[in-house]
Amino acid sequence: MGKMEDLYSDSSVSFLKKLPSKKKLSEMLGFTPEKVLIIYDRKVSRQEPIQSWMEDFSLKYGVSAGEKLKELEEFPDHVKKIMKLLGTVSPRNCCVIALGGGTVGDFAGFFASVFKRGVPLIHVPTTLLAAMDSAHGGKTALNVGDLKNQIGSFYPAHAVLIVREIFENLPPLQLHSAAGELAKMALIEGGKFFEDVQSTHMKGFEEIWQHLPEAISAKYKVVEQDPLEQSGERAILNLGHTLGHALELYYDLPHGVAVGLGLVFSVNWSHHHGYLNFQDLERISDLLHDKFGIQRAHQFLAKRKQMSRSRLRRFIAEDKKVTDNEHLSFIFLSGIGKTLRRTVTLDSVLTEAQRQGWVSG
Ligand SMILES: NC(=O)c1ccc[n+]([C@@H]2O[C@H](COP(=O)([O-])OP(=O)(O)OC[C@H]3O[C@@H](n4cnc5c(N)ncnc54)[C@H](O)[C@@H]3O)[C@@H](O)[C@H]2O)c1
Ligand SMILES: [Zn+2]
Repeated sequence: MGKMEDLYSDSSVSFLKKLPSKKKLSEMLGFTPEKVLIIYDRKVSRQEPIQSWMEDFSLKYGVSAGEKLKELEEFPDHVKKIMKLLGTVSPRNCCVIALGGGTVGDFAGFFASVFKRGVPLIHVPTTLLAAMDSAHGGKTALNVGDLKNQIGSFYPAHAVLIVREIFENLPPLQLHSAAGELAKMALIEGGKFFEDVQSTHMKGFEEIWQHLPEAISAKYKVVEQDPLEQSGERAILNLGHTLGHALELYYDLPHGVAVGLGLVFSVNWSHHHGYLNFQDLERISDLLHDKFGIQRAHQFLAKRKQMSRSRLRRFIAEDKKVTDNEHLSFIFLSGIGKTLRRTVTLDSVLTEAQRQGWVSG
């Protein structure tokens, strides 16, 4: 990729201060597409500076973000509308820009991967979850009914542009949510990243922004070991997600906040199992409570009706991580930066959740 006066650029990921001009986009792609189609989240397109930036582009397809956008049954209708908008187009001469959060990225990424057997794709994430996680690693996905991410492809973006001015005014809840995924990556990566995070108080946007490059490169390190999800190595990115996902659904929590709580569960269980020593448990617990404000999420849960054991069973059984009726793959920590993938029984997860006080009997 050409040299840019940007904040940081590493292979396909660029950190930019501002949304790029058309010329700069061409530089990044290495060619000037005849047709640039922006698939965008209608909600963010009304915000500045996105609104003004989009005026420069004529081919735009607005969508409503959310899981419904990823619904397989809706896909043919979207494709027809997009094809009508695009007119005649050569796959070598066009490009799709996905502008939005993870649902827009999954939808537009899938579209780009199958339209004319694949057209160049650029991700411009607008949520921190997308910036840190879903825009990287090449997974695209659609849902089939209630089952999430059943149809998809591996289609890495030609470029991922992380644009600072998009995130500067994000609502606080989005920042809390991003912090949970950031903590997850710091635990998976360990080393300097963990120490950097440990020495920062995660007050707001600046601290999250400062650690984004480390979080993103930690994700790429995992993805590179298992790009097509064949060896199972990539599953370590699910750290904190088994209980986290159930809490997200039951309490209607932002994804990353629930993941933060799921991390507390995973590290406590790792210690109880004898995988994680007390000293590391203390260091991690201090980090999660003091730096990431997990305490607040705990307090929120305490005010609500607790989930029952049987409810948790149903949530986890429905989760795709359950390999058969009774077993699932669970990610433990045996140290900071050291993950362990183990097959556990569903009952053992429930018993541990009860022991730790996450569910009632
Ligand atoms: N492909 C992958 O590797 C991968 C990884 C993790 C998650 N995911 C997927 O990502 C999706 C979740 O991502 P998400 O939370 O970004 O979803 P999303 O796209 O639904 O965005 C969440 C909400 O934030 C709003 N929003 C977007 N940008 C905003 C901004 N700048 N300011 C204010 N509001 C804004 C959206 O309109 C939406 O209401 C899930 O479908 C999940 O399956 C995919
Ligand atoms: Zn997640």
